[in-house]
Amino acid sequence: MIKIDGSVAIVTGASSGIGAATARLLAGRGARVVLAARRADRLEGLAAELPGAMAVPTDVTDPAQLGHLVERCLDVHGRVDILVNNAGQGLHVPLLELRADDLRAVFELNVIAPLIAMQAVIPSMRAQGGGAIVNVSSATSLRLFPGLGGYSATKAALNLLSQIGRIEFADAGVAVSVVYPSVTDTEFHQSLRAGHFAGGPRRFPADPPELVATAIAFAIESGEAHLMVGDPPRPISPGSDDPWAGGLARPMPARPGWGGGAAGQTASPDRGPAT
Ligand SMILES: NC(=O)c1ccc[n+]([C@@H]2O[C@H](COP(=O)([O-])OP(=O)(O)OC[C@H]3O[C@@H](n4cnc5c(N)ncnc54)[C@H](OP(=O)(O)O)[C@@H]3O)[C@@H](O)[C@H]2O)c1
Repeated sequence: MIKIDGSVAIVTGASSGIGAATARLLAGRGARVVLAARRADRLEGLAAELPGAMAVPTDVTDPAQLGHLVERCLDVHGRVDILVNNAGQGLHVPLLELRADDLRAVFELNVIAPLIAMQAVIPSMRAQGGGAIVNVSSATSLRLFPGLGGYSATKAALNLLSQIGRIEFADAGVAVSVVYPSVTDTEFHQSLRAGHFAGGPRRFPADPPELVATAIAFAIESGEAHLMVGDPPRPISPGSDDPWAGGLARPMPARPGWGGGAAGQTASPDRGPAT
């Protein structure tokens, strides 16, 4: 659990939508935000609006650029308290039309990049005594949506990395949380890697990105493992009777010699770091 006021927060995908709304919310609550995305002009414009903000143009699929992002943050602020892995892209085609190179590209962005970003911040968070990581997933990863298999698979992979990271990073005092937005009114459906949004505006009334930002801030402050977006945000946990919780992987029952050794036995995967 991290106090937002006075913290240093890296937000990826901050040039639009949920990332920009999150950066605004965190800066409004007293965080110094480090804004990452590829469109430098948008980042510079937002940084100019927000006190203490800094733009670091970054393609998060390039590990060297991700490394530079974290280094810039540490050079300027000397610490990193919060990482919001939000940059992402949709891939909305049926499996028979799903091209392997599209799926690889979206895996790089939605799965590999958040993993490398987590790896890059953990040493500093450990040295500081803690931190908060929020990975922005999707409600589509918790139920079955034909036509979204590629995209949902990337977010399901992110969910598992997050859940296991929550256990593995608990001894560093780092809480990994996942936020699951539903359809949100951003540029997302105009920027799909392939395919199109089949829902239509009436079928799925879109949430405002500010509502997702509220859930992200709640995740940071509460350390909750899994949050559905809503007013207020709704925590869910594996095995609970919430209709969306059935899509969450359950932790291994504690058994001697199982579950990744000490981390698997001592961490509290659903409620917060064990420390
Ligand atoms: N909108 C929805 O309905 C919805 C629903 C569920 C989950 N989500 C998730 O919410 C997150 C944010 O999406 P959004 O709705 O805010 O969509 P968005 O407005 O399209 O924002 C996507 C952000 O990702 C950034 N990005 C894309 N590729 C990047 C790269 N290679 N390196 C760095 N940044 C990159 C974009 O910035 P640049 O182009 O400037 O790089 C942009 O800032 C995504 O992870 C998405 O999967 C969205």
